[in-house]
Amino acid sequence: MKAIILAAGLGTRFKSDKHKVLHEMLGKPIIWYVLDYIKQANIVDIGVVVSHQKEAVLETLKGENVSFFEQANPKGGTADALLSAKAFFEDMDDYILVANGDAPLVKPDTLKGMQRFLHMVEEYEKIKVGALVLSSFLPDPTGYGRIVKDGKGDVIKIVEEKEATYEEKQINEVNGGLYMFYVPYLKEAVKHLRPSEKTNELYITDIVEIMTSLGYTCRSFMASEITEIFGVNDRWELSFAESVVKMRILEKLARAGVTIHSPESVYIEPDVKVELDAEIFPNVVLKGNTVIHKKAKVMNGSYLENATIKEKATVLPMSYIKNSTVEEEATVGPMCHIRDNSVVGKGSHVGSFVELKNAKLQENVMAKHLSYLGDVSIGKKANIGAGTVIANFDGKQKYQTYIGQHAFIGSNSLIIAPRNIGDYAFIAGGSVITKDIPPKALAVERADLKILEDKSKVKDE
Ligand code: UD1
Ligand code: CA
Repeated sequence: MKAIILAAGLGTRFKSDKHKVLHEMLGKPIIWYVLDYIKQANIVDIGVVVSHQKEAVLETLKGENVSFFEQANPKGGTADALLSAKAFFEDMDDYILVANGDAPLVKPDTLKGMQRFLHMVEEYEKIKVGALVLSSFLPDPTGYGRIVKDGKGDVIKIVEEKEATYEEKQINEVNGGLYMFYVPYLKEAVKHLRPSEKTNELYITDIVEIMTSLGYTCRSFMASEITEIFGVNDRWELSFAESVVKMRILEKLARAGVTIHSPESVYIEPDVKVELDAEIFPNVVLKGNTVIHKKAKVMNGSYLENATIKEKATVLPMSYIKNSTVEEEATVGPMCHIRDNSVVGKGSHVGSFVELKNAKLQENVMAKHLSYLGDVSIGKKANIGAGTVIANFDGKQKYQTYIGQHAFIGSNSLIIAPRNIGDYAFIAGGSVITKDIPPKALAVERADLKILEDKSKVKDE
């Protein structure tokens, strides 16, 4: 089976300069989800109809193995869009899947179910179905095409909201905008299409009535849950669709053994991986290619993007970690900032208001309070005192610093890069370090403290 995605429309209701199908849900464009459920149903030959902002759509889908077709007039309607890709299906003697590019919530299993249904009908009734339409019953069907059936349950036509009579508007079964057409019947039917008198568009939905009049059978296939048939026409529908996708991701993780507290407040993107017995707390954001390994905890309000949190590590509340790794049993936060390929070694602690930028901490390094550690490599068991700052930038260039294992950096030290601090070196608190420090040395840089008796400026009241 081949598939065609319709993505040429103007999307006026969306009110955006950007093409509707390129708006993102959980970091992926709407059309990515459509492609994804089609590919997951093992359909590989996919065409996309473009027109409005065609370059942007092509750019977004570059790298995908799809063919593009251009609809000359993006106001031509959904059938006009389908006809623009006629070359894609003309020679087929099979069913073709046609999907609206703005319906991202269909499940791959539903497509497989539709395919099985077509086989069953062939097997038992010895007929081809002209059109199989994905549908659902909505309590409020406003805006959707209504499915009109005959006494036997066959679909005889689909009526658009704009064209529907008062009685037709009472029908609750709606068109999900996804169809499987039998191509030989489709080619015959499209010859009879006429533009709507109200909108001047060619409607793909009219194909059903034409097929019925030609004597072909059309059927509807019930979606497994009503959310599947939702189309995204405006921003609020985008928010809704995003929350549906998100809850599906969270449910899948939870049922696979991840604890998720207050799921309504947790945001996890599709490519994130979370392993067994990991625990995710309220208001956590996990983006990109983040991986949370077994028994790790990510606590309230933390934001992680392309982060790797290894087994039994803990991210305390309100931490920000990007493109970095926290190794086994390490603890970071609360309120730390870890970025640019930093690594927090096994068992290390990075505490509150500590910023790591391209910092590689080996095992059991302690940097528990108020530090900036940029472009630095720190040996195991080093202790970085509160307020330590590495001045890695001279206004023009960034420089690298090495701090040896077991080094002790006293509070409020300022280390001017590039610098080498030897193993077991001790830097006294408040020092400004402008020279390399050999291993085991003590470095003190401090003006003498003067104490002048009875010179205090504080007067007795
Ligand atoms: C369409 C169906 C409606 C169904 C609903 C489900 C028609 C006429 N109506 O309505 O029965 O209930 O989807 O969501 O099909 N497009 C083009 N070229 C065009 C017009 C549209 O490629 O000239 C594309 C759009 O980019 C979009 C899709 O087709 O991805 C659907 O178009 P849209 O205008 O959103 O149709 P609906 O009014 O939602
Ligand atoms: Ca739509």
